[in-house]
Amino acid sequence: MYLAYNSGGFKANVFDASVVSWSGGGSGGAAAPVDMKVLGKKVFTQTCVICHQATGLGVPGQFPPLVGTEWVLSQDWHGDNHLVKQVLYGMQGPITVKGMPFNNAMAAWSQLTDQQIAAVLTYVRSEWGNNAPPITTEFVTKVRADTKPRTEAWNLAEMKAIPKEMCSGSAAPATPPVKK
Ligand code: HEC
Repeated sequence: MYLAYNSGGFKANVFDASVVSWSGGGSGGAAAPVDMKVLGKKVFTQTCVICHQATGLGVPGQFPPLVGTEWVLSQDWHGDNHLVKQVLYGMQGPITVKGMPFNNAMAAWSQLTDQQIAAVLTYVRSEWGNNAPPITTEFVTKVRADTKPRTEAWNLAEMKAIPKEMCSGSAAPATPPVKK
């Protein structure tokens, strides 16, 4: 019985390449580095697609788009830290996205691992014509630590009060990040 339910019907294509990795001889050696875009797409499909849609365009008036938004691309006052915080703890109340008003609620995804959050954001930032640098697992770990303890969703005013920080390891900020 165990095998009947857990073998995936013995089909070769049920195994998820982002989870299972082969190193050489197929004897199950050390795991190869995870492909963040592959993992990100998987997380997106499992957790975000229901609202934000496979096109990333959302549902007008209900669920905002993820394509070309200032939130996703970290434009204006939005930093990479806001994006991570928003996915970690959710968001509620009125916000604008590309000039369009939304007044809804997004649940927290703090149950995802730092790697899953980094992967899904890296995916979102490089899909549908989006072209923003990856979000690293280390950055998510840092933002999660900065943000603790917290359980409630953010509102816009709270979010805006947090200074912008960027993840991009290549360009270190000239001034050290503001510590609160
Ligand atoms: C149950 C529906 C739902 C799910 C699932 C969901 N979101 Fe959202 N998301 C929303 C809503 C609603 C808002 C706007 C919240 C508001 O009005 O305050 C939002 C806002 C956002 C924003 C900021 C605004 C924008 O569109 O640029 C981002 C980024 C985002 N979501 C990413 C994600 C990611 C990544 C996931 C998966 C880990 C996810 N969301 C899962 C409903 C959802």
